[in-house]
Amino acid sequence: MPKADVWWVELGSVPLEPMLAWLNDEERDRWSRYLKDDDKQRFLLGASLSRAIVARSLGVAAADVPLERHCSRCEGPHGPVTSPLPGAPKLSVTHAGELVGVAASLDGLVGLDVEPSAGRAPLKDLSVVFGPDEIAGITRAGGGSEPFLRMWTRKEAVVKAVGVGFMVSLPDVVLTGPASAPRLLSWPAEEPGADRFPAETRMADVQAPRDHVGAVAVIAERAAGELVVAQHNGADLLTAAIPA
Ligand SMILES: CC(C)(COP(=O)(O)OP(=O)(O)OC[C@H]1O[C@@H](n2cnc3c(N)ncnc32)[C@H](O)[C@@H]1OP(=O)(O)O)[C@@H](O)C(=O)NCCC(=O)NCCS
Repeated sequence: MPKADVWWVELGSVPLEPMLAWLNDEERDRWSRYLKDDDKQRFLLGASLSRAIVARSLGVAAADVPLERHCSRCEGPHGPVTSPLPGAPKLSVTHAGELVGVAASLDGLVGLDVEPSAGRAPLKDLSVVFGPDEIAGITRAGGGSEPFLRMWTRKEAVVKAVGVGFMVSLPDVVLTGPASAPRLLSWPAEEPGADRFPAETRMADVQAPRDHVGAVAVIAERAAGELVVAQHNGADLLTAAIPA
């Protein structure tokens, strides 16, 4: 069965100073360009948790874990985070308000998204993001923020696992409805992967801390069966990774 682990950490729950030393030059540059303290924290916690997860998986120090970000569109140093260390799990970072999450999987590319349960009203024009059957499913489920967020986080998890983010025709990334178990039904025909992603993508909803909803997607090339997700305390992992 394909597996993913998700670690959550809240802003203000761990001392940030020691983790600044883990950042590479590009990350330090980006961190210093954030104007708001919360944005600095979110970025630092996402990068640090990613390092601590890889460190735990490979038995190395978090400070020694290299991370890379490579945009497939413009070649710039942004996009999904990866570690080039052999055997490192695939990673996906998400932030929402006070919460930062990182998903890791050894079974394939992974995508994670989280949103506050009460934080987002449904879009006025659902057709920007959803296809007709998905909109019908959201409407059948009452049309409120719950089915909307369920579908939104599922869709974002899929496009993050593939690595394209929102640079894809979202209504053509077709999922099962909010009342059904999450599954990718089709991927845009004009994009690479239309032949494999629907069959290889495994998904699960997650109830995240502090009343957040989320979803995880794994492109599981080999592992058959349902996706199993285990959730963990990221503050504990980071605290253990910071040298005394
Ligand atoms: C990825 C994306 C869907 C995330 O949206 P969001 O709801 O604002 O943010 P989240 O908090 O859930 O996720 C942010 C994380 O997604 C990751 N990410 C960024 N681009 C990504 C991509 N293409 N695929 C997967 N993950 C991506 C990063 O790790 C980022 O964390 P960081 O800011 O700490 O580096 C959205 O930002 C997006 O589509 N970005 C790509 C846009 C693009 O490709 N532009 C072209 C630039 S040339």
